[in-house]
Amino acid sequence: MSNSKYYQDKICIVTGANSGIGYALSEELLKRGAIVYMVGRNPKKVAKAAEQLSEFKDRVHTIIVDVTVQEQVENAINDTVKETGGLDFLFNNAGVGGTLQFETATMEDWKNIINVNLWSVIYGTHTAVPIMLEQGSGHIINTSSIAGITPPPFQALYSLTKYGVTGLTECLRYEYAEKGLHFSTICPANIATPIFKKSIDGTTHDELKIPDDAYPVDKAAKFILDRVAEYNGIIIVPEEPYTEMWEKYVLKDAEIEEFMMQMARDRRAAYEKGGNYY
Ligand SMILES: NC(=O)c1ccc[n+]([C@@H]2O[C@H](COP(=O)([O-])OP(=O)(O)OC[C@H]3O[C@@H](n4cnc5c(N)ncnc54)[C@H](OP(=O)(O)O)[C@@H]3O)[C@@H](O)[C@H]2O)c1
Repeated sequence: MSNSKYYQDKICIVTGANSGIGYALSEELLKRGAIVYMVGRNPKKVAKAAEQLSEFKDRVHTIIVDVTVQEQVENAINDTVKETGGLDFLFNNAGVGGTLQFETATMEDWKNIINVNLWSVIYGTHTAVPIMLEQGSGHIINTSSIAGITPPPFQALYSLTKYGVTGLTECLRYEYAEKGLHFSTICPANIATPIFKKSIDGTTHDELKIPDDAYPVDKAAKFILDRVAEYNGIIIVPEEPYTEMWEKYVLKDAEIEEFMMQMARDRRAAYEKGGNYY
């Protein structure tokens, strides 16, 4: 299937579309001819993001939604379907990071990250599947993480949410494969976005930096949309070295076991020195 044909004139909803991966996916979808509903919670940020894409004119739409509120997610999807007559792609992408010492996490931290990263995906998927089943077509793409297929130490809360996203999406990929529905799980690793500057509650910390070696977000979006159009299930981006890392982890390879242990030691040492991981 030609990639451009896969998205041409298709109705897409993208959450977390005002920033990072969601913005890059929106831009690339528009370049490939799609009609994009950009979802975000902050009206100013969403309007600014849409303004930057104004060259695509009437194919760019915005919806203000806090993805932690079930009714808002449902209304966004149902209203889009009423307006356009269908829904071809749902990108459940909004999310927050979280790198912290397990013993310091509060119940507020747990609830916040589960609400943003997991419940939002459940709300969106729960609403979209019956619509897509009735249509007999549709593709749901949920953003997990490399932390949703391998467990980085000091990211237990984040990893829990992302393993949930991976499990949900992979189960449904098989469950609906013969019903015309497709499911993909995006597993990014170190993509250059503002997530590196945010703490678990979504607050930005100017002292934090996006790593210099992080993968360019526009390249990531192109790669992801190419793989989605090929109906890939788990999409790891960048592909290497992370695919090899995942395979070695699954095979209980001694090298990756030591790599994880070293990451734990390094992060523990950084915290003990008063380092600023979030
Ligand atoms: N970048 C990476 O290296 C990486 C790696 C693994 C996984 N991911 C995943 O990729 C996804 C996108 O992250 P990103 O890197 O692009 O980060 P980002 O630039 O911080 O974008 C996150 C987006 O989610 C939105 N969001 C957060 N909470 C929300 C809420 N309650 N309601 C509506 N929108 C909300 C943010 O809105 P505001 O701008 O208003 O905060 C923002 O638009 C996330 O699921 C993340 O876990 C990223």
